[in-house]
Amino acid sequence: MKYLISDVQLVSGEHTDLFVAEGSFRDPADASGDVTRIDASGLIALPGLVDLHTHLREPGREDAETIASGTKAAARGGYTCVHAMANTDPVADTAEAVEHVLEVGLAEGSAQVVPVGAVSKGLEGQELAELGLMARSKARTRFFSDDGKCVADSLLMRRALSYVTAFDGVIAQHSQDPRLAGAGACCHESEWSGRLGLPGWPAQAESVIVARDVQLAELTGARLHVCHVSTAESVEVIRWAKKRGIRVTAEATPHHLYLDVSNVEGYDTTYKVNPPLATNEHIEAVREALADGTIDAVATDHAPHNPQDKDHPFDVALPGMLGLEQSLAVVMETMLNPGRITWETLAERMSYAPARIGQVANQGRALAVGEPANLVLVDPSARATVDKNASLSRSRNNPYHGRELPDPVVLTMWAGDVTYGR
Ligand code: DOR
Repeated sequence: MKYLISDVQLVSGEHTDLFVAEGSFRDPADASGDVTRIDASGLIALPGLVDLHTHLREPGREDAETIASGTKAAARGGYTCVHAMANTDPVADTAEAVEHVLEVGLAEGSAQVVPVGAVSKGLEGQELAELGLMARSKARTRFFSDDGKCVADSLLMRRALSYVTAFDGVIAQHSQDPRLAGAGACCHESEWSGRLGLPGWPAQAESVIVARDVQLAELTGARLHVCHVSTAESVEVIRWAKKRGIRVTAEATPHHLYLDVSNVEGYDTTYKVNPPLATNEHIEAVREALADGTIDAVATDHAPHNPQDKDHPFDVALPGMLGLEQSLAVVMETMLNPGRITWETLAERMSYAPARIGQVANQGRALAVGEPANLVLVDPSARATVDKNASLSRSRNNPYHGRELPDPVVLTMWAGDVTYGR
């Protein structure tokens, strides 16, 4: 298929035509023959979004999500690439397991699927997984995480960081001190945890691990990525580490930019997530850090769950919420529309930076002749009320249900194919 997208606005503000043929952008002067024309006046073209943090649940929990359904939801959210987290069943801790995710992604995905490898065998935090074999596999894994669990053992974390320097890999840490956030902790420790009678999770359960890990990254010279930063203290540590030249990058989720702990008031387990929703002081710190680049990227932590795992008392239900379909909307609402960031910075945080961090060479590229045709066409003024039942995900744990938000994604194109259009 060939496409001529006319009069589209780029993030720089410039208006242009984009011609797509055989998966790449071509010179619009060469558009001839059987070309599908798309009038994009009033629309903005962003590079296809890249998610560093997606739970696709396949293999093992296909009742909650599959690679096919999760990447359909991704395409609807404007994503052309997702990093599939390793906390599946079986865990993606071997070369065969990451190759399997890669192959299903290629066969059934509506977006590029980059398999994340586990750091420890079975996510058990005891022994390193097959990091080297995963790196040499067809999946060429460079991004490793025990996400869902923290690599709590300092020596194991040091070894993992040292190991991946051999191929310039990255360890992405779920920073959660298992003792401080133990005993069923499920609510940001504050007046709210007390009032609701929910075990508290102090902000420091995150930041003590971030502080340890940036020092281990300095010791080993390795690249550390901090998943879902949610507190002011973590932001301060990352700012300090970056100033010192430590190789650390960080991500923030849409839900930690938008939702606060008061949502937990009705004990609706949709709002149970790790790390927990925090107070406004922390939300402000995360927003500021995303604006000034201390936090490099937005990542969804899209975590589909079946009602069987959510319909329980708050402290027992599984943590996690959907994110792929409303991520861009939330970043527009909290960051772009209030003037905290420009479209250029939004493209950096949601496409260019995550592609660099995840080392995905063909994503996060400029919309320029010769580059792969990965893009999302955005209507900057459309708004709608989110309906969880209209989701392309298999799950319904959507924390934005019933909220009025931007509804920006008009069309998503991955490698020259339309993967979503409305
Ligand atoms: O709330 C969460 N759920 N946080 C994580 O880090 C993991 C995720 C999941 O896998 O459900």
